[in-house]
Amino acid sequence: MPALEARSVSKTYTIDSRRMTVLDSIVLSVAEGEFLVIKGESGSGKSTLLSILSGLDRPDAGRVLLGERDITDLTEDDLAPIRNATFGFVFQSFHLIPSLTARENVMFPAELRGDPQAREKADRLLERVGLSGRATSFPHQLSGGEKQRCAICRALVNDPQILFADEPTGNLDQANGWAVLELLRELHHEHRTTLILVTHSLEIARTADRVITLQAGTIVANTGHV
Ligand SMILES: Nc1ncnc2c1ncn2[C@@H]1O[C@H](COP(=O)(O)OP(=O)(O)OP(=O)(O)O)[C@@H](O)[C@H]1O
Ligand SMILES: [Mg+2]
Repeated sequence: MPALEARSVSKTYTIDSRRMTVLDSIVLSVAEGEFLVIKGESGSGKSTLLSILSGLDRPDAGRVLLGERDITDLTEDDLAPIRNATFGFVFQSFHLIPSLTARENVMFPAELRGDPQAREKADRLLERVGLSGRATSFPHQLSGGEKQRCAICRALVNDPQILFADEPTGNLDQANGWAVLELLRELHHEHRTTLILVTHSLEIARTADRVITLQAGTIVANTGHV
């Protein structure tokens, strides 16, 4: 059974009374443990697709299935705990909470679930990504690469089934960007988490199980290799 499925997912926006189809009947099935890369030009619909797959946004038509469960019409109250427990998110702009330390940021999703081991888990992850020494630093005291490694720890603290990363290197220089992508790849390998990554990096795409290319809201290529 696929971990995640999009069945004819469409999304349309109306701007100045002009209808714009951003996603056009997307059919996609992601296997458990798969490392899927999504690429495509700016505006092709990558972030919109990720938002819909992860229940942050809703399609206008079509269904989204998490395993056997149809999550398309769930209320926000039903979706929020699924997002927290089942999905991890890494964004281009980190989205760390400025008033919390690195450790507190990582602990946060675990504390939401009342996990008594939140702190131990956070510290283990911070150590794994080489940030043990920065546990009590606040986001503004961290470099871009450190912020993103911290955000990756936060995304992993609840041991998610599916990790979504939307251009996680977009705000990093080349060396840090590469290190973050390598880290995601290693973590995927270690945890066997399903990884859905939007990236332009051909080097990383080459290491993915599958690469799909979006163009104007449709999948124009779907291949095991770049
Ligand atoms: N809330 C919105 N209202 C109107 N149009 C939107 C909205 N969100 C996205 N769009 C439009 O949908 C299209 C796809 O946007 P999306 O962010 O999914 O692209 P993308 O592939 O992630 O691009 P990028 O590589 O620049 O991040 C764009 O043309 C964008 O302007
Ligand atoms: Mg985007």
